[in-house]
Amino acid sequence: MTKLSGITPSGHVHLGNYLGAVRRWALEGGADDLYFVADLHGMTTPHNPAKLRSLAHEQLAVLIAAGIEPERVFVQSDLARELGALTWVLECTCNYGEAARMIQFKEKSKGQAGVRLSLLTYPALMAADILLQGAAEVPVGEDQRQHVELTRTLAKRFNSTYGEVFTIPEAVLPPAGARVKDLADPARKMSKSTRDAAGVVFALDEPDQIRRKIRRAVTDGGSVPEHDPETRPGMANLLEILAACRGGSPADLASEFTSYGAVKDAVADAVIDELRPLRERALTLLGDVAELDRVRKAGAERARERGSHRLDAALRMIGAN
Ligand code: TYM
Repeated sequence: MTKLSGITPSGHVHLGNYLGAVRRWALEGGADDLYFVADLHGMTTPHNPAKLRSLAHEQLAVLIAAGIEPERVFVQSDLARELGALTWVLECTCNYGEAARMIQFKEKSKGQAGVRLSLLTYPALMAADILLQGAAEVPVGEDQRQHVELTRTLAKRFNSTYGEVFTIPEAVLPPAGARVKDLADPARKMSKSTRDAAGVVFALDEPDQIRRKIRRAVTDGGSVPEHDPETRPGMANLLEILAACRGGSPADLASEFTSYGAVKDAVADAVIDELRPLRERALTLLGDVAELDRVRKAGAERARERGSHRLDAALRMIGAN
């Protein structure tokens, strides 16, 4: 069963991306799976080209540093021609209303002047990513589930209207509690695009920065640690991060501590330990531009070869070529 997933370089990789997605991709990945940096998706809202390019480069290094084999990673724009063509085919399979209904489109376009057309067609490109490679499973967070559902709808519609080309993919969601919240505002998920980075731990932050951010995490009125996401979301988030790093359940871990400060120290230690090897490997890779470029080219070639017959078949069946 081929798995495929991606991460958008709209900012630096953070602890939520790492614990909720990237680390799992590395741990659970099979030889056939593919993971990629979705830089084309990073152009759907106002962006800076040079920054996007450098973030894409950094994210590629982070995926490899996290332990995903270099053979299984690529950068989306290296397949821009194939994906662009397949996106068009899928846009011709998708109704306007289906795209306009996407929660992410509604949230990101709300109150904005000059919304890019690509923000609306975002899920058609995401469907192209998935369907080009014949992925059966798509490990994503809850926020991306609706896009994978639309991908299923489009794949089924294409197959029944024009002929069987596409594998029908399924979203695979992480277990409950895999959603890391912002340390400064535990009502919000940790996000790459948050303006104030005080509550966002980035995968490549220095250990001192990590400790400072965790020490300043907003917690609730209580003093004895307990895991209650409803009434103590800040403490619950810290305990969930600790559980994700160390194993065990957040509730059991809570009983090991008698003060909030002790929990914060333990979380800081655990996160620093968890991220240290990733950071070291990523910095080494980022210092070796030639090697990273070589990996990038090889990954692109492999992904292109693997997917192009599906694009050819889809174009033929829909009436082109
Ligand atoms: P992106 O870049 O928003 O997120 C990458 C992955 O990280 C997960 N995630 C989190 N997990 C736990 N806690 C958090 N705070 C947190 N924030 C983000 C996301 O659920 C996701 O799994 N559109 C996609 C990229 C994409 C893609 C695809 C994915 C493009 N094409 C095809 C799958 C298949 C995105 O922007 O993910």
